[in-house]
Amino acid sequence: MLKIGNIILDVPFFQASLSGYSDYAMRAIARECGAPMTFAGVFLAKSVIHPRVFNSPSFKPGDNEHPIGAQLLGEDAEIMARAARVVSQAGYDLIDLNFACPAPKVIRRKRGGFLLNEPDKVIEIYNAVKESVDCPVTMKLRTSFDNESYDNFWDISSRATAGKVDALIVHPRAVCQRFTGLANWEFLSEVKKQFPRTIIIGSGDLFSVDTIKNNMKNTGVDGAVIARDAIGNPWIFEQLREGDDFVAPTLEQQGRVISKHFNLVCKLYGDKKAITHFRKFAIAYCKLHPLRRKVQKALFAAETVEEFLAAVKQWYCM
Ligand SMILES: Cc1cc2nc3c(=O)[nH]c(=O)nc-3n(C[C@H](O)[C@H](O)[C@H](O)COP(=O)(O)O)c2cc1C
Repeated sequence: MLKIGNIILDVPFFQASLSGYSDYAMRAIARECGAPMTFAGVFLAKSVIHPRVFNSPSFKPGDNEHPIGAQLLGEDAEIMARAARVVSQAGYDLIDLNFACPAPKVIRRKRGGFLLNEPDKVIEIYNAVKESVDCPVTMKLRTSFDNESYDNFWDISSRATAGKVDALIVHPRAVCQRFTGLANWEFLSEVKKQFPRTIIIGSGDLFSVDTIKNNMKNTGVDGAVIARDAIGNPWIFEQLREGDDFVAPTLEQQGRVISKHFNLVCKLYGDKKAITHFRKFAIAYCKLHPLRRKVQKALFAAETVEEFLAAVKQWYCM
């Protein structure tokens, strides 16, 4: 179980915010495979407060998606607070503040991970958001900006904890590392020891059930966020739930999920765009197929929806 403010998940893991991936289609599939909560991709606060964005149908979560988290990115406390109200009114159940993103364009604009250099600003944003909404507010942090000093991490997390943050989601890498090197889960043991009464959720290099369970057990964190592993492997949620009883999906079962995911993507973006949009998922799904390269080639060769679905049918024995 995992309790984040008023949200109670029956299992202590959920699907991460994955920009460019965690749209309605990916989230629906993750839920069907056992994710108790998912996140939309990060929203830029400045855009979210624009009626063109918040009135667009794809912005609102589906009725069957609760609980669902929204993550906000921005550097201005007042705009972040306004954006928080907008996403909360749109139906998102939890707001996560992104102080972790290492993308160069985000860092250049002094948002995301850059803000680990500015603890006062982080706390100003947190306080403004917390005051503006009733739903749980969490913070996603990396451990430092450049691996030279962790002082800002401890400063921010101590003040956020004192300010009753509903959870800290920690990806234990420095911002400058981006995704290189290993996530330092030992750091998470320290975080949990330091803040035993705060919900601490770990992220980073969670690519197998054993790693996820061992990392949680060894560090004492309360929960884990599944990120890259959930792309093309929604069964990770089922596997985490079922443990030793888990039976890996047959090729046919995989094919059915891939087709369903693809059809949802067609509905979201239209047939033409769906073919190219889905390629990044196809690459990931194919990793579980014994003839990975051949299947990927066949799926990439499809130029129409019918061709794509026929290729799935053929290679997944449906
Ligand atoms: C394609 C991609 C998109 C991501 N988008 C976000 C995002 O929008 N917000 C966020 O906080 N983290 C984002 N992340 C980071 C993940 O949530 C996670 O913290 C990171 O990938 C480490 O976990 P993993 O090693 O298990 O993948 C993204 C990662 C990837 C690979």
